[in-house]
Amino acid sequence: MKVGIIGCGAIANIIASNMVPEKNGINIKYFFDKDIERAENLASFAGGVAVINLEDMLDDVDLVLECASPDSVKLLAPKILEKGIDMIIMSIGAFMDKNFHDETYELAKRNNAHIHLPSGAIVGLDGIKAVADFGLKEITLVTRKSPKSLGMDIDTTEILFEGKASEAVKEFPLNINVAATISS
Ligand SMILES: NC(=O)c1ccc[n+]([C@@H]2O[C@H](COP(=O)([O-])OP(=O)(O)OC[C@H]3O[C@@H](n4cnc5c(N)ncnc54)[C@H](O)[C@@H]3O)[C@@H](O)[C@H]2O)c1
Repeated sequence: MKVGIIGCGAIANIIASNMVPEKNGINIKYFFDKDIERAENLASFAGGVAVINLEDMLDDVDLVLECASPDSVKLLAPKILEKGIDMIIMSIGAFMDKNFHDETYELAKRNNAHIHLPSGAIVGLDGIKAVADFGLKEITLVTRKSPKSLGMDIDTTEILFEGKASEAVKEFPLNINVAATISS
């Protein structure tokens, strides 16, 4: 299977470093990033090809792995799905916009493309899914992050946000994947 990656940052580096094509037949061939230097660095490390335009990979991939940002999902996912190409989407927060969620899933369905959302850090997501149809109305999620990962230089514990996942995604677009996954 030939794969193209959008976003060549931390997650893409971990995935590309741990991929063993001989074992699983997955060939991460194309690397796209709005910062072309990042795409070139990862492509050269992984033995792939850096592309300047997303379109340059779309005729040759079976799957696109997004690991860039919620904004990139909104901008690029429609172009990929309308070609019938499957996607793994890491920036699940993009789907907290219900209109975008519904339109994107409809587009995927029309073009026979699949959207895969990784369970990420959530243990027991299958259990939550199983009870969701039996009256589960609300889940309380407590998220703790290191201040550094939020760009803060403090050494005390602070509550930064209390509220709905759909509101949290606006404040912390890169840190809300767990809440977004549970919500959807
Ligand atoms: N679902 C999960 O379990 C899970 C886990 C970790 C991270 N994530 C998500 O994955 C995404 C990437 O995380 P990361 O830690 O690798 O971030 P990162 O900042 O290290 O890397 C993101 C890369 O994407 C590029 N990028 C951003 N917007 C782009 C666009 N519109 N077009 C092309 N390239 C673009 C950036 O230049 C950067 O190189 C984030 O949205 C994060 O929230 C999801």
